[in-house]
Parts: sequence; structure tokens; C-alpha cells
Amino acid sequence: MNLTELQECKALSSHQRNLQNFSMRQSFEEDKERFAKFSIKFEDILFDYSKNLITQETLDLLVKLANSMELGSKIEALFSGKEINITENRAVLHTALRQSNSEPIFVSGEDVIPKVHNELNKIEAFVKNVHSGNFLGATGKRLTDIVNIGIGGSDLGPAMVTEALSYYKNKDINSYFVSNVDGSDIITTLSKINPETTLFIVASKTFTTQETMTNAFTAKKWLLENLTQAKSAEIISKHFVAISTNIKACAEFGISEDRIFQFWDWVGGRYSLWSSIGLSIALSIGMDNFRKLLAGAEAMDKHFRNTSFDKNIPVLMALLGVWYINFWGASSHCVVPYDYYLTKFPLFLQQLDMESNGKEVQIDGEKVNYSTAPIVWGAAGTNAQHSFFQLIHQGTHLIPADFIAFVNNLNQSDQQDILLSNFFAQTEALMRGKNSDEVIKELKAENLSDDKIEKLQHHKIFKGNKPTNSILIKKLTPYNLGSLIAMYEHKVFVQGVIWNINSFDQWGVELGKQLAKKILKELNTKDSELNHDSSTVGLINFCKA
Ligand code: F6P
Repeated sequence: MNLTELQECKALSSHQRNLQNFSMRQSFEEDKERFAKFSIKFEDILFDYSKNLITQETLDLLVKLANSMELGSKIEALFSGKEINITENRAVLHTALRQSNSEPIFVSGEDVIPKVHNELNKIEAFVKNVHSGNFLGATGKRLTDIVNIGIGGSDLGPAMVTEALSYYKNKDINSYFVSNVDGSDIITTLSKINPETTLFIVASKTFTTQETMTNAFTAKKWLLENLTQAKSAEIISKHFVAISTNIKACAEFGISEDRIFQFWDWVGGRYSLWSSIGLSIALSIGMDNFRKLLAGAEAMDKHFRNTSFDKNIPVLMALLGVWYINFWGASSHCVVPYDYYLTKFPLFLQQLDMESNGKEVQIDGEKVNYSTAPIVWGAAGTNAQHSFFQLIHQGTHLIPADFIAFVNNLNQSDQQDILLSNFFAQTEALMRGKNSDEVIKELKAENLSDDKIEKLQHHKIFKGNKPTNSILIKKLTPYNLGSLIAMYEHKVFVQGVIWNINSFDQWGVELGKQLAKKILKELNTKDSELNHDSSTVGLINFCKA
């Protein structure tokens, strides 16, 4: 399929040419209803997309494009468990993980919902037993240090949510996340914890990932060396749990069946925080809060599935992204949470978006001749204002950005107005800019000479017209965070549909893994024959020497 040849794309290209001189600032001045027209409220969330380079016609054309890509039937295929991950012959059912009712969803003839609910109940029982002190360590002490060992989807989601919801945490539980195969990661973590009170969660869909298994074996060795007063089988059984689809490998590691939590191949790694991969979250914030997180995501699922595209937040977010990437040449997308607790949110979104849609072939294997996933980046505001915002305001790239904030601060309300005023001011400044008349007027008011004004004015002009979405949420709660994450998951899905790519595989990470295995052997063998390019040989030899 050639997306660019679609009538809808041609119409959007021609519409984009007509908007070359479109000014958001002017549009706001002329149309007092612009915010009312281009904003949506959903439960506690306000999605304001009025500060974009759009008119009603833009949206109508984008919705037509979504229809021509059969978005409606593809959303149904997602929710109903069709094998939409065609390169791995798998359904994609992270939405089933947060379905609270028992309406069946079949995968290979089997209803998955009872399995999902059973696993949640198993997690609940485990969390209660750890919190109540029913499950103790091998020396009889309470388990209070929880170390999640995992990487990618088995780390980023749980680590991000645990930090984001740390206000709600069980005060007796300390959470740690070890992901990197760089030994400094696990060694520094081990130096902070007590073996007698530590529970390691080995989280790995495959249970073969090099980083995770290496760290898991290091953790096992450390426990066995440091808990000499207990028997080794008891140490493993009381201080380790596993979360995986590979039950056999978990058992081989020595983890007993009742301490293995399952999930299934129809849950993608980067979509897995809702499954038992979320055990570290549940241990930190408790099961009631974990269920609220799921409920918030489920509410967003319903909104996404049942709302017309022109009022559908994830669909609009996705279409606006497509608008900038494919019609305005934007190559990146910035996410700026104005909330300290969401510091890790951009990192989480990087995997979600770029591992899903960083693809160059379509579903049928044909190459795309258009851009796909943006480079996702960002950092928490207001810190980001003092680092990279200069480039967004006055640099040469077009960088659409999402601003996210909570109206009510969880800790300190005195400073909240300062935080929010910065959010609002930045999106206003990006939209309206500052023209030369305004700059000159300002400089004159400072009594500068004409010569100085002439020299300075060009540096002080802001072009403005920079697009932003504002996502304003009443309060950071487990429920609202669940909705926010699901909103981005569905945005990524919709963009994959428009680009006609499979958002649910990740073959691009395999080649490096294969080569690393070969090079690891060579690093460990004296005088091995090195069959690589001269750069790689040079690097290996430098290390060996
Ligand atoms: O390397 C990519 C990847 O496969 C991710 O998609 C996944 O989230 C991560 O590695 C970890 O995989 P696993 O959970 O199997 O250890």
C-alpha cells in the first residue's frame, strides 16, 4: 500500500500548503471559541489541543484518513483478540488485563479473562502475605526491600509507575529496580539492602534476556553468600519470585511453582505493566491501588473503543502526531510532565512509542516511503525549561510537544501555582511568540540606543506558532495515571494503523543481541580470530590489551 497515494493524504498535503501562513495567534484572536472547539474533557482529564496548527478542516481530513485506514475495525480487532501481531502470530490483549467484567475474550479457542482474574487474585494474596508478614525471609525477618530485576518492558513500566505513585506507597516497603547489565547497577543496589529482608522479583517475559538473567544470578550468589545461616533451597524459595511466560525456565532457576507469576504471549513487553509484571507496583502501593490503576486504564479503553474519532482523545493525539510527522516534516515529539513524580514518564514513552512504531516496512513487508515513529524525548518541567526549551522556542526544528500536569499537588500546595503558571506560560509563549514590533517596543522601554536595538532585536524575536497539547488532570491518583498511560498506548496503536505497520514486534533489537553473544566469547578467549570490520576489531583489541 502506498499511503502517500491515498486521496486523503493528497488532500491533507494540499491543505497543509494552504496553511503555510496560518497563525495560531491570529486564529485565537479571531475565534473566541477556539479552545471550546478544540478541547475535550474526559472524567478528570482535560485535553486541550487548540494550540495546534489546525483548523476544523484539518481535523475533518485527518478523521477521513483514519477511516480510510479502517481504524474502527482495527480497534475492534485489537480488543477482540485477533492475531494482529502478524509476524509473531499473536493477539495483542493488554486491554484484557484491565477488563474488570467477565465478558469472554478468546485466544486460540480459550477465554483468557478467567486466567487474567486468577492471576490478579494470586498477586493480591501474595502482596497481602508480604505486607502482613505472613511470608517472611529465610531468617524469619519481614520482606521490606523489593528489588525488581528486569529490563525494557519488564522494568520501565513498573519503575515509572512505582515512582509516579510513590506518594501512595506502603511506608514499610522500599522499592529498587535493577535493569542494566552494567554490574554497577546491581552492585550499588545490593550495597543499600539487607539480604535478610530482600525479595528479588525476576521479571522477564522470555526468562532468557541476557541482562536480567545475569543480574538474577548475581543476586542469587549474593544471597547465598550472605545468608549462610539458612539452607540454599529455602533462601531461593523465600527470597525470589519470578514473572514470566516461560514457566519451565523459572523452575530451572530454582523458583518454586507457587512463587511463579504468569503472563501470556499475547501481552507485549512494553504493554505488560498491567499484568503480573506489575507485581513490584502492587507491592509498593498495595493491591487496592493497583486495581485502581487498572480501572483507570479500563475507563480509557472504553473511551477509546466507543467514542467517535473527532471526540476521541487517543485518536486525536495520534492524528495530530501524523499531521506533524507526515505533512509538516517533524521528526521528534517532546513530552514534558510538570510533575516531579512523572520524571520517568518520557523514558517509559520512549520504549512504548519507538519500539512499537520505529519500523520501516508495512504489514505486508513492503517498504514505507513516509516517516513513522517520532523520536520521543522530554524531561520534567520546570527543569526542562532551563535546558532544552531554548531550542523548541527559537531553534530550527519543528517540535510538537505534550505538556502534562495535575491541578492539585500531592504535597505542597503553596508552590503549585508557580508550577502551573510556568506550564501555561510556556504553551502560550510557544503559541504566540513575540514579533519584532513587540521586541522593539520592549527594548525602547529599556531606553536602549537605536544601534543597540537594531543589533539585539533579531535575537529576541520568537516566531511562535509552535504546536502543543495540554493534558491537565485534577490529581495524580492511581486511577488517573492508569488512564493517562492507556491514552498513550492507544495513541501509539492508532499511529501504527495509519502507517500500516505492525506495532507489536521488535525485530530491530535482535541483531545487536546476536553479535554481542559472538563478541562476548571473543573478549573471553585469548588469540581468537576476529572476523569483524577494522573498527570493531580495533575496539576489541584495545580492551584485550
Ligand atoms: O530487547 C527488547 C525486549 O524484547 C523488549 O521488548 C522487552 O520489553 C525487553 O526486551 C525485555 O524482555 P524480557 O521481558 O523477555 O526479559
